[in-house]
Order: sequence, then C-alpha cells, then structure tokens
Amino acid sequence: MAYDFTTIYNRHNMDSISQDVQDSEFSAAVQEKRIPLWVADMGFATAPAVTEHISKRMEHPVYGYFLPSEEYYNSIARWHEESYGWDGPSKETVGYENGVLGGVASALRLLAAPGSPILLHSPTYNGFIHVLEGLGYRMVLSPLKKDHRGVPRMDLRDMEKKIRDNNIHVVLFCSPHNPSGRVWTREELQQALRLFAKHDLTVISDEIWSDLTLYGNTHIPTASVSTDAAQRTIAFYAPTKTFNLAGMIGSYSVVLNPRLRKALTEAEEKCHYNNMNVLSMHALIGAYSPEGRAWMNELKKVLEYNIDSMCSFFTSIDGVSVFKSEGTYILSPDFSKWCASNNTSLSELVQKGIASGVMWRDGKYYNMPDGIRLCLSQPSSLILEAIKRLRPLFD
Ligand SMILES: Cc1ncc(COP(=O)(O)O)c(C=O)c1O
Repeated sequence: MAYDFTTIYNRHNMDSISQDVQDSEFSAAVQEKRIPLWVADMGFATAPAVTEHISKRMEHPVYGYFLPSEEYYNSIARWHEESYGWDGPSKETVGYENGVLGGVASALRLLAAPGSPILLHSPTYNGFIHVLEGLGYRMVLSPLKKDHRGVPRMDLRDMEKKIRDNNIHVVLFCSPHNPSGRVWTREELQQALRLFAKHDLTVISDEIWSDLTLYGNTHIPTASVSTDAAQRTIAFYAPTKTFNLAGMIGSYSVVLNPRLRKALTEAEEKCHYNNMNVLSMHALIGAYSPEGRAWMNELKKVLEYNIDSMCSFFTSIDGVSVFKSEGTYILSPDFSKWCASNNTSLSELVQKGIASGVMWRDGKYYNMPDGIRLCLSQPSSLILEAIKRLRPLFD
C-alpha cells in the first residue's frame, strides 16, 4: 500500500471524542484498552493531499474574509463527475453548509413547521433523531425489511401508508444508509422517488457516505435518477466522512431546483451562521484531488478487509445474523436469537463488550432494538484485536 493505514494513533487529549468521551455508557471500560468502534470517525490520518493543501495555505499567514474559489467549485464538480458520472454540482447549484446535520436542520426548518411529521427509515442515524427531536418534528418511521437473503430493503407499501395516514410532505432520506450499510440501487431509488413524486414529498437526501461504497457497489445521487427527482431533492454531501475531517467542519448542498435553492440559500445566509472556514475549503480541494482519490481507493480496501473479518466472526456464531455492509464502515449485527437462546439481554451483551474495551454501541440509539452498531474504521490490527476480545463473550 502506498498510504499508511496501520499506524495506531494515540488521540488522547488530541480533540477526539472517540478516545476521550466518558459518558455513563462507557464508564465501565478501562480507558487504556478501549478500541473505539462507537463513533463514525476514523483512526486513520487524513490523506496526505489534504494536509499538504492546508499546510500550503498556512504558508500565507493572513486569514481574512474570503469568497470560495473557482477551484473549490471545480473540485466538487469534477469529483461528482468522476465518481458518479453526474454533472449536477456547479458554482450555481452548490451551497456551503456548516456540517451535513446543520444543512439537514436548515432544510427541515424551511420545509416544515415544528410538529410536522417527517418520514424516515428505521434503523435511523442517531444524528437525525437528535435534530428532529431538537427542532420539535414528529418522526414517522418506516422500518427497513430484510428480504429472503437478509438484505434490508425499503418497504414501499409501508412508506406509502405512512405518507397517506400522516399527510407527510417531507422525507429525510439517507443514501448510502447509516446504520444498515445499504447502498441503494438505481431501481430502488427510482421506486422510492416515484412514490415521493406521487405524494409530492420534498426529499432531503443525506449523501455524506456517498464515497464509501464498497465491494464494487456504486452510489447513485438521488437527484440524478429522474428529471422529477432533480427538482424535488435537496442533497447534502461532504468530504468529512471519507477523509476523516469531521473536526474541520465543511459540507455542501446541491440543489438543482432554483426555487428550493434560493429559499435554502436565503435561510442559511441571512442568519450569518453558515460561513465557510478557509482551511476547510483548502482541505476539500486537497481531498477532491487525484491524490485524494488514490488514498480513498486504498482506504476502501482496508474497510472491506475489516468488514470481511468482523462478518466472518459474527456469522460463525449461532443466533447472530449480520448483513455485510455494501457501503459505509458500519456493521449492525442482529443478536435477537442469540440473546433469546442465551438468556441474555442486549444491554448486558453491550456492557460485556465494553468491559473488554470494545466500544461498540447499543442499537437502541438507532431505533435498532436487537442490534449493536460497530464502526470498523480503525487499523485492521485493532479490528482483529476487537474480535479476539469479543470471542469469549459467545463461547
Ligand atoms: C448519515 C449522516 N449524516 C450526517 C452525519 C454528520 O455529518 P456532519 O458532521 O457533517 O454534521 C453523519 C455522521 O456520522 C452521518 O452518518
């Protein structure tokens, strides 16, 4: 490998909730031996291209007000063209966001009054739950349903019933899906978007995981599936998941419908709370470079290895079922049968794992009562060590 995905960084006191957070959930663990699989950031150093671009900018020590550069917009446009064959993003259609969740919050406020029902899938990314609860919306959950091969799929009938029964006009859509690890196919997206069109829903599409598609799966931008989808979608993207830049903050919207775009831009700009950081702009330019892409391609091989290893471990245990994620670095095994036949509750199992230093996370935070979520975005040696520590729990 040309890049380093093996160094284990000590991130203590280095601005890292992954290592330093000590809430009640994790207090049982011995600090030094913890393997942080609970939060969706990575143990890897970012791509060298990112650091180089930031460092180059820092050679000029003046950081005054600025406007996003042509290079910034061109980098985003080129990235989407090369990744997804999609020409949606341009200087006109891209808007800056203080984080994807911040963008989701702005879009929600624009489209629905507090108290309104919002459609989303379960299991559910916990950040969505926080935002919806925080802003006073009503979550209407449509559970993903496993098919005969154990693949979680959207249940269109259930979605339609919930849209009708609750008179829903906004859906918060996650593609690829956290925490199931699904990368929606074109056909699935087209079916969902046809349903949204039939009932005239506006689609807030969180595509922060779009780069991290694995095993040959490809991401299809929601807005690209039809001319109608292009007009009803507000999409959010970021280099922050892919390049481990969450602490830099820096995301962007792509909105092709001029009316929605104008409304979103005005809502975000008028409050003056949504301004870009100059170093985060340069981070994005470095990330979305050919060198950044080469780094990402190697990263994906490491993530595939990690997911393969953890999946073969879980599939070897009677009563544990696991869908092998097609994208993201998240795995959500289901322990319902194992817990029932071993007379153990899921939270007991979670606590035992944590006591061994494996910081996995109870599915209750994700509307996933029988599952535990693991983020496999650490050097492979740590993933193998986590498996070694978890094994005795199932003996
Ligand atoms: C689906 C999804 N959206 C948004 C975020 C957070 O994005 P940001 O840090 O840009 O707000 C995450 C982080 O895990 C995520 O999984």
